[in-house]
Amino acid sequence: MPTPTLFFTIVIAIGLLRFAACFNSADDDDSDEETAGLFAFQTTDFDPEKIKRVVIQLHGQGRDAWLYFDQTTEALYNATRTNTASKSKSKKRTKLKRYETLIFAPWFLNEDDEGAYTDLDAGSSTAGPLVWPGSEWANGGDSILPSGASDNVSSFEAIDGVIRHFADRDTFPKMETIIVAGHSMGAQMAQRYALLGAVPSGRLPVHFVVANPGSFAYLTPSRPNSVENCSETYDQWKYGLGVYEQRYLSDFVRESLDQQNDVTDVRKRYSEQRLVHYLFGTADHGKGDTRCEAVTQGLTHLERGRNYMRHLADVVNDDSIAAVTANIHTVDYIKNVSHDGLGMFMSKAGIERLFYTNVLGEEEPQGVGDADPDSQYFYPSRSSSLASWRPTALATVFATLALAAIPSLL
Ligand SMILES: *[C@@H]1O[C@H](CO)[C@@H](O)[C@H](O)[C@H]1NC(C)=O
Ligand SMILES: *[C@@H]1O[C@H](CO)[C@@H](O)[C@H](O)[C@H]1NC(C)=O
Ligand SMILES: *[C@@H]1O[C@H](CO)[C@@H](O)[C@H](O)[C@H]1NC(C)=O
Ligand SMILES: *[C@@H]1O[C@H](CO)[C@@H](O)[C@H](O)[C@H]1NC(C)=O
Repeated sequence: MPTPTLFFTIVIAIGLLRFAACFNSADDDDSDEETAGLFAFQTTDFDPEKIKRVVIQLHGQGRDAWLYFDQTTEALYNATRTNTASKSKSKKRTKLKRYETLIFAPWFLNEDDEGAYTDLDAGSSTAGPLVWPGSEWANGGDSILPSGASDNVSSFEAIDGVIRHFADRDTFPKMETIIVAGHSMGAQMAQRYALLGAVPSGRLPVHFVVANPGSFAYLTPSRPNSVENCSETYDQWKYGLGVYEQRYLSDFVRESLDQQNDVTDVRKRYSEQRLVHYLFGTADHGKGDTRCEAVTQGLTHLERGRNYMRHLADVVNDDSIAAVTANIHTVDYIKNVSHDGLGMFMSKAGIERLFYTNVLGEEEPQGVGDADPDSQYFYPSRSSSLASWRPTALATVFATLALAAIPSLL
C-alpha cells in the first residue's frame, strides 16, 4: 500500500468518481437527509446510450480498486484487439466492441485509508466516503463512517445501489448484462453477495465471476476437513449460514432465515438461480486465510475451490437440484495461473465469462431481485433496535473527474 497521501494523489491522477446513495429515515417527516458516498473507478468518455454490459469488478484485501480497474480494462482491450476468445472454427462469434462495455471498480475504504477519507470528507461529519472496519466490506458488514450518520450502510447495500444504477433504463437504455466479478477477497465478496444479495436488476441478467477466493460461504454445515479446533465458529457467517447476525438482509433472505434459521430457500436460490462462474488457477497453492474456519474448507486456494465444487454438487444432489449441469454454476480451472488477477481475467475462460457471457443479449433474467423500485429491500437485523432506513434516491453520480486514459493501453 502506498502512503495515504500518495494513495489519494494516484486516485486523482487517474480519475475518481463519487457515487452516492442517499439514505432517508423510514420516518418520512424527518427532513434530515444524509449523504454517504461510495467511490469508484469507472471507464470515462463512454456514451451511456451505447453501453450493453457493465463489469463491476471488486478489489482485493488491499482495497486496490485502481489495480483491478486497470486489469479488467486491460483484459477488455486485449480481448477486443486480438479477439482471441472469439476464435472458433464452427461458428463466427460476435466481435466485442469496446465502447459497449463499461468497467466499474467500487472502492471499499477502511480505517487504514485515513488520508483518503479525511481529505475527501472536507470536514463534514454526515457526508463523505463510506468507510468499513477492516475487511468487513467483503462480508456485507456495516460502515463506520461517515461518523454521525444515524445509520450504517452495508457494503452489500452499496452493491445493491450500484446494480440499480446500471439497471436503470433511463440512463442505460441498451444495457443487457451485469457482471459482478472479483478475485481473491473480491471473489469472496462476489460469492457471498451472490448468495445473500438482493440483486435488484429488474429485467437484466446478472452473472457472478468468482476467481480464487480465500474462502467460501458454505451452504450446509458439512466440511471437507476436521472442524475440531473451531467447532463453534466454523459455520458462522462469513464461512457458513449457521449463524448470521449482520444487519443486511434482503427481503428474500429475511423471510428465509427467519424460520428457525431455515436456510433452504437461500440455498435453493443460490444453486438453482444465481448464475455463478468459478475460476480457479491450478498454480494457486497459496494458503491465504489461515484461520481454522478457512482451513476446514481446504488448505490452499485451489483446494478450497475444488472442495467447494464438490460441496455444491452434494447440495444439489441432496436437494434434487440440477444446477451445475444446467450451466447455472460453471467452473474453469486456469492452467499454470497462480494468485494473479490479470492472469485469471486474461485467460480464455476469464475473457469468456467477463465479456462474452450473454454477448447476444438474449438471456432471460433469473434469480434477480424484486423489480419494484419502491420496494424495501434491506432491513435492520432481527436483534437490532435501530430504526429502519431505506434509500430514497439511489446512486446519483454527482462528480466525475476526467480519467486520463492509461498510457500503456493506448
Ligand atoms: C493479449 O493477447 C495476446 C494474443 O493472445 C497475447 O499474446 C498477449 O500476451 C496478451 N496480453 C497479455 C498482457 O496477456
Ligand atoms: C455505525 O456507525 C457508527 C458511526 O456512524 C459507529 O460508531 C458504529 O460503530 C457503527 N456500527 C457498526 C455496527 O459498524
Ligand atoms: C487442532 O489443534 C491442535 C493443537 O494446536 C493440533 O495439533 C491439531 O492438528 C489441530 N487439528 C486440526 C484438524 O487442525
Ligand atoms: C506450466 O509451467 C511449466 C513451468 O513453468 C511449463 O513447463 C509448462 O509447459 C506450463 N504448462 C502450460 C500448460 O502452460
